[in-house]
Amino acid sequence: MLYNPAVPAVLDAAGELVDYVEVIPDRLWYDFGADAADRFAHVHGAIATLRRHAERHVLTGHGIGLSLPSAMPLDEAMLDQVAASHRCLDYRWYSEHLSMFLTPDGSIPDAQAGMGLPMVHDSETLEIVGQKVRRLQDALDRPILLENGTIFSAIPDPEMSEPEFMNRLHAQTGCGMLLDLHNLYANTLNLGWSADEYLRAIDPDVVIEIHLAGGDWLRSHYTDSHSRRTPGPVWEWLTEWGPRFPNLAAITFEYHESYHSRIGMDGVIEELEAMHACASRIAQARAAEPALALC
Ligand SMILES: [Fe+2]
Repeated sequence: MLYNPAVPAVLDAAGELVDYVEVIPDRLWYDFGADAADRFAHVHGAIATLRRHAERHVLTGHGIGLSLPSAMPLDEAMLDQVAASHRCLDYRWYSEHLSMFLTPDGSIPDAQAGMGLPMVHDSETLEIVGQKVRRLQDALDRPILLENGTIFSAIPDPEMSEPEFMNRLHAQTGCGMLLDLHNLYANTLNLGWSADEYLRAIDPDVVIEIHLAGGDWLRSHYTDSHSRRTPGPVWEWLTEWGPRFPNLAAITFEYHESYHSRIGMDGVIEELEAMHACASRIAQARAAEPALALC
């Protein structure tokens, strides 16, 4: 599960269904900006709660602040914070996003966009992201993954597709992929992408983790709002494609705490049970047809 303030109640009610908890380190501090004298203020209560969970659950880190595809230097002070949270919570691996959250805006060199902006899939961005991934690998000494995002407005005529970008990044740096099937679902609805084409284009070795989530329509746009249980097509893709990813190690359900009452505790537990059933079927399919991993 992705950690949110409603998750401790889920762990109390059905902790045996949660194998690991994915932590957004950016939610463990307040950032007052690069020029502030005391830039970071830590949320000590949340950190103490997670330390208790770390005694019984594996933790992974899932950052949103480093904005690797942005054409600006890596925020080393924020990376120091991520590294400190890793020393405290011992992340099994650390992921970031294939989207830009920071971008120059007038006189502000690193303005927060407030949402994931689409990135350019070209050789120059591949070089930028590759250098930063290597820096993260050195700083954290853990596997680094990058997650495909929802794209609100596609950049036309890309030099390469997103799967090709990810495959090449993996070949150059060893970076893995956090494949968010619900983000892919949103992109099929909003951009007309073919999920089959996308999934077939990914080097199967690259996928380490899969995200599940649900969203809402906002007028004619489908949003990755983490507001519902996982929709049917996403389950079908997980069932069909999960066995083909030999390095798949984790399936994560993400929802926002503000939708806990809508999804309901029973809904969250049913989701977790369905994930375990799916993981068992994937394991059985792998055992029965190991050659699938070579497809
Ligand atoms: Fe995700």
